[in-house]
Amino acid sequence: MNIIHYAANHRSHTMAVEKLVYPAAERNKNPILSVLKRYIQPGADQTLLEISSGSGQHVAHFAPHFPQVTFYPSEYDPYLLGSIAAHANGYSNIRKPVLIDVTTDFRLWDNGTFKPNSLEYIYNANMMHISPYQCTIGLFKNAGQLLKRHGLLITYGPYACDSVIYPESNVKFHNSLRSQNPSWGLRDISDLKRLAEKSDIKLTEVVDMPANNKTIVWRKDGRADRTGEHVSPIGRTAGETAKT
Ligand SMILES: C[S@@+](CC[C@H](N)C(=O)[O-])C[C@H]1O[C@@H](n2cnc3c(N)ncnc32)[C@H](O)[C@@H]1O
Repeated sequence: MNIIHYAANHRSHTMAVEKLVYPAAERNKNPILSVLKRYIQPGADQTLLEISSGSGQHVAHFAPHFPQVTFYPSEYDPYLLGSIAAHANGYSNIRKPVLIDVTTDFRLWDNGTFKPNSLEYIYNANMMHISPYQCTIGLFKNAGQLLKRHGLLITYGPYACDSVIYPESNVKFHNSLRSQNPSWGLRDISDLKRLAEKSDIKLTEVVDMPANNKTIVWRKDGRADRTGEHVSPIGRTAGETAKT
């Protein structure tokens, strides 16, 4: 299988048949994995849905470390499904990648594969700042309905904190995103906390990562379950520390 080094913002209507490799994903996959290891629990039959899997590098790197978890990669860009499948090839706990537009209701995704209160984990890297804010709204709204009680949404990328973008390289990145598309740009963690709370999700930990990125762990409270269905909570991780 050939490997193609690839710019993350490429778009096409055909499908990649080979493994695309984003250099940034190669750099950040191990630091993100170390955070996942603190939160993903032992025990059987857990499910992780990845929103916007990109090339598929992350899911293929993470899955062998968590054989107790079934991974569902997904993408909005149909071109990327072939690359995700190529990276996932050979891993029995990675399902076929599915097309997901996170701004739509989860009941429409993959003919209703995903059920309310059914997921232990949702993972999303580097989407919020490179997509319209509607995608961020959709991510939290759907996560609030899809996650089990105490289920986790884990997000990764660069963020603003209390209206401050730091350091200067992130300010430049934000400005360049805005110049490409005025609806893109770094999201502020304070705004995200308010958005999350509308979906019964609370910020649990902000982890500083290399290259001025952060991994943010969000937990669905789930006490105010709106569906009326019985919800069995997932437990808390021993290594978890609360830094809200
Ligand atoms: C910079 S890439 C990140 C890819 C990968 N997660 C990574 O970290 O390498 C941003 C991703 O957001 C996805 N995206 C854009 N709009 C979306 C939408 N409406 N629903 C889901 N994903 C979307 C794009 O298709 C793209 O794969």
